[in-house]
Amino acid sequence: MVEAALDITLGSEENLIQELDLVDQDNPQSWKNKLILGDCLEALQKLPSASVDLIITSPPYADSRKKTYGGISPDEYTDWFLIRASELKRVLKPEGSFILNIKEKVVDGQRHPYVLNLILGMQKQGWLWTEEYIWHKKNSYPGKWSNRFRDSWERCLHFNKQKKFKMYQESVMVPMGDWAKSRLKKLSETDRRRDNSKVDSGFGKNISNWLERKMAYPTNVLHLATECGNKNHSAAFPKNLPSWFIKLFTNLDDVVLDPFAGSGTSCVAAKELGRNYVGIEIKREYCQLAELNIKTAVANTQLVKNSNQYHEELNVVGSDYKIYHNYLIQYVLTPFYDKRFEKLSKLKLKDVLKRKNPYLFKAKNIERAQDFVDSIITSFLSSQEETIFGNLLEGFAIHISETLYGGFKSKLNSIDLEFKRNDNYYIVGIKSGTNWGNSDQISKMKDNFKKARQFLRKQGITSNIFAVNGCMYGKDSNPFKQDIDSDKTYFKYAGQEFWEFISEDPNLYQEMIVPIGEEAKKKDELFKSTLDAKINEMTFEFMQFFTSNGRIDWIKLVDYVSKKGDVKLEAVTQQLTLELEGRDSDLEEPLDLADALDFE
Ligand SMILES: C[S@@+](CC[C@H](N)C(=O)[O-])C[C@H]1O[C@@H](n2cnc3c(N)ncnc32)[C@H](O)[C@@H]1O
Repeated sequence: MVEAALDITLGSEENLIQELDLVDQDNPQSWKNKLILGDCLEALQKLPSASVDLIITSPPYADSRKKTYGGISPDEYTDWFLIRASELKRVLKPEGSFILNIKEKVVDGQRHPYVLNLILGMQKQGWLWTEEYIWHKKNSYPGKWSNRFRDSWERCLHFNKQKKFKMYQESVMVPMGDWAKSRLKKLSETDRRRDNSKVDSGFGKNISNWLERKMAYPTNVLHLATECGNKNHSAAFPKNLPSWFIKLFTNLDDVVLDPFAGSGTSCVAAKELGRNYVGIEIKREYCQLAELNIKTAVANTQLVKNSNQYHEELNVVGSDYKIYHNYLIQYVLTPFYDKRFEKLSKLKLKDVLKRKNPYLFKAKNIERAQDFVDSIITSFLSSQEETIFGNLLEGFAIHISETLYGGFKSKLNSIDLEFKRNDNYYIVGIKSGTNWGNSDQISKMKDNFKKARQFLRKQGITSNIFAVNGCMYGKDSNPFKQDIDSDKTYFKYAGQEFWEFISEDPNLYQEMIVPIGEEAKKKDELFKSTLDAKINEMTFEFMQFFTSNGRIDWIKLVDYVSKKGDVKLEAVTQQLTLELEGRDSDLEEPLDLADALDFE
């Protein structure tokens, strides 16, 4: 599936690079979703007015990267940029935005003011300087300079043509995390009192509102690492940077322009977010790099789409997966939880105690009654759960075989399933994991395989009979288990191989996780609260019989589990109550907790 998708998309020979003289403003196909090769001044002049929703770019910095793509001297930079800015203003739609990622260079030991001049120049041109976002470079290189510290931020200047512009703030909301909680914690007592007394201030209410919210608006500081992966362009910015602004200022199918496209990061981000892009780049090699990056992104997006579609297909009513899905819920998960509840409700402290090794819990230094009870119940239940669940899942494997190949539950010793496929006859013994048996048990299984083969031949089965030991999880790198006696030879298929053998679907072993997880989420909450109640109830009982002076009485416990003959248990509650209350031992009425707590 994955390979097919790659073939389709990378096989596309569409040329994304557009020569300057072929750009025709009346034909959007000549510039939309293209990388125009040339100076952006000339290329912009060929684009129609008000055709772009967002411009996002990182221009060549003044003089700084002469070796790679030429530079403009800091003193000339403002004028050089402003001619282009005027064209950018023309092509931008009235409600569009322009994000300019730029940073002033240090010249002669001080920051050159060309960015500041540029802002003023753009304002004169009629741009509104709406905002300044800071890109905090989380991973900038450490270093030492005599008069300043490590540079770890850049400006992202936000310009508009008019005050009212498109902005989709919800699209960049961030999870609240524990911010509100820690804020509330930090409020001093006075703050709290003052806040409470100002009933009408609404501040206290506001904080509690925040506590309930899951998402918040971000600040104007973006904490992003610099691009490390893009080895072929010396000044690429991280894709998250344009992505964030694209989400904030555009909608699906809008047009995003990067007039200094470089390796095409903005174009890739736009494409991935379902927007149209226009990239302009003066260097052919960078245009080619950008083209490659875009095509790779398209291929990756296609892969994700295919995989989503694939997962959607799994839910199509009537498909095998839907049937499997329902079966797993109805015949595996539901009875599994029913059984768990049943076991839990029938659980008796004294029974569980007798089946668990008290020395183990002592060795684990468990000294609290509740911890002790929790441990014995949990380990008691889980030892049974493995078997219960294993049996139910085995039923699922048989069900698949029955649905696909008319398989059925076998009555032969050591064999759980029989089915015929492609003229072969299979006898399958199903186990939970791979380490299911010692050598005696394995040898017994092999004997039973032999007997089953002989029996089936007598019954008239003429096809090859394959014996399989199927394990529902795990792996076995050497599945062919040969024996001198060919009737004892078998295959051991585990995990993915087992489920694939059963269904001929290599993905089934993963897909099963989905319904199991979904249903467990629904049922487990109720189970956990029932379990908690049981633990409380049994802890109370345990304390009555197996604690003295507030501690676990281990001697009494091991006596109860292991001492020869009958051991009678005496509750200690009454004595405890009496000691606490100073009453007589022949108290008739049990103490009422409500009375005890009633201080009046
Ligand atoms: C800072 S880089 C942009 C990097 C880009 N943001 C990325 O992520 O790869 C500036 C790019 O502008 C290109 N450039 C310089 N002058 C140009 C011009 N007049 N017109 C178009 N592109 C130009 C350079 O070749 C360089 O690739």
